[in-house]
Amino acid sequence: MPGITIGDTVPNLEVETTQGRFKLHDYFADSWTILFSHPGDFTPVCTTELGMMAAYADEFSKRGVKLLGLSCDDIASHNEWIKDVEAYSGGHKVKYPIIADPNREIIKQLNMVDPDEKGPNGQQLPSRALHIVGPNKMVKLSFLYPATTGRNMDEVLRVVDSLQKAAKHKVATPVNWKPNEKVVISPSVNNDQAKEMFPQGFETTDLPSKKGYLRFTQV
Ligand code: BEZ
Repeated sequence: MPGITIGDTVPNLEVETTQGRFKLHDYFADSWTILFSHPGDFTPVCTTELGMMAAYADEFSKRGVKLLGLSCDDIASHNEWIKDVEAYSGGHKVKYPIIADPNREIIKQLNMVDPDEKGPNGQQLPSRALHIVGPNKMVKLSFLYPATTGRNMDEVLRVVDSLQKAAKHKVATPVNWKPNEKVVISPSVNNDQAKEMFPQGFETTDLPSKKGYLRFTQV
């Protein structure tokens, strides 16, 4: 597969954005970052998505997560479109930078090209790609949605909470997990280690195999 995926370090590309030129690693610094693309400015689903990102910006900020958007349109187009996004989102300001990639170089390197969608002149367009980058500048999670399906920002927030929980404790989050619900202890942790690591205790689910691998705890 071309471009980056989970476990890869994001290349330190120099990008032009609505908030000036910078290198990606300088922007990430040692924070978590959500790097997300959209097919184009002045399109309906994208307007709703960027508006919702602006509305959720404080929630991401509370978790120490920076935002960075991208489409192939130029900076003048982004700046004009931001006025629509802010008006649609009820006045939430777009405080995060948006990368311009008119030459389609960045979307190729960041694995954001939509194989199906094409612009009016047959040019490549980005999909709705979203990489969550960890403080070590490596991709921790990626979404790849087609142009026709808007992303769910509650889900983006939920997976940030899951990633941060897993980074802090040796745990994983089970199906449909939500913050404050129980987590499962990683298989790499044996029961003796689990007793030390989770003094609050843990419950082992009794399953036919009797292997004792499904252990819930609260962290
Ligand atoms: C949209 O944002 O609504 C959109 C963009 C490209 C193709 C289809 C939908």
